[in-house]
Amino acid sequence: MKIGLDKGSLSGYYSNMTENRTLPTPYFHNDSITLYHGDCQVILPQLNFTGLLLTDPPYGINLSAKDASTRIRYKNVTSDTASFSKIQNDSGTLDLTFLFEYGYPQVIFGANNFPNIIPFDAKRDGWLVWDKRLTEKADKMIGSPFEMAVVRGKRMYKFVRLLHGGVVNADGWGIKRIHPTQKPIALMSRVMSYFPGLDVLDPFAGSGGTLLAAQADGRKAVGIELEEKYCEIIATRLQQ
Ligand SMILES: C[S@@+](CC[C@H](N)C(=O)[O-])C[C@H]1O[C@@H](n2cnc3c(N)ncnc32)[C@H](O)[C@@H]1O
Repeated sequence: MKIGLDKGSLSGYYSNMTENRTLPTPYFHNDSITLYHGDCQVILPQLNFTGLLLTDPPYGINLSAKDASTRIRYKNVTSDTASFSKIQNDSGTLDLTFLFEYGYPQVIFGANNFPNIIPFDAKRDGWLVWDKRLTEKADKMIGSPFEMAVVRGKRMYKFVRLLHGGVVNADGWGIKRIHPTQKPIALMSRVMSYFPGLDVLDPFAGSGGTLLAAQADGRKAVGIELEEKYCEIIATRLQQ
C-alpha cells in the first residue's frame, strides 16, 4: 500500500533531501513526517540530515517472539499471545558503526549490546536508562527490566521511568502490540523533550513510535524502515 505522496509538497523543507536524485520516493509523507521504505545503509548517505538521531536498531540478540520459552515467560505476566516473525538484521551480523555518522546529537537504544563499537567521549556523551519495571515478579520474567541508550553529543545521565511491560503491550494495557520490539510513544516523546526544537531521524523506524512522537510534538522527522509491512503500519498510525 502506498499512501499520501504529493510530490509537489516535497519542495521547501525536503528540497535539500531531493538534491541527490537517487533518493527513493517516500513511502509516505505529510507536512511533518517523511518515511522511506528501504535499507537505511543505502538511504542515509543521501539525506543530508541535520538534527537528532533517535533510534532503536536491531541489537543482534536474535529475539524471536515466536520462541516458545519467551512466550511462556511473557504469558505468565501479561497473557500476551502475540506472534511475530523475526526482525530483519537481528542476527548480529549488521555492523552498526555506520550509524554514528548521521545526525547529531544521537540517542541510540540497545547500546549496551554493542558498547565496543561506540565512539564514546565521557566529556561529551552520556547514557539514558529506561526503567520499565512493573513488579519484582515481572522483573524476573521479562528479560531485562531496563534498557540503555547511549547519548552522543549531550553529557546527560538520566533515568526515564516509564512503568511498562517491556515488549509487551507497548502503548498501554489492553493495546495490542504491532511490532515484536515495539517501544512506547511516550518513551520517545520523553527522550525528545531533552532535545527541544530539533528535527528527528529514525533509520530503524519499526512501528513508528519515534515518528508518532515527533508528529505529536509538531516536529519534522524522517524515518526509514526495511520491511514494507511496518511501513504500512507506520503510515496508518500517522494518519489516525
Ligand atoms: C528494534 S526494531 C525497532 C522497533 C521500534 N523501536 C518500534 O517501537 O517499533 C528495528 C527495526 O529496524 C528494521 N530494520 C532492520 N534492518 C534495517 C535496515 N538495514 N534499514 C532499515 N530498517 C531496518 C527492522 O525491520 C525493525 O523493524
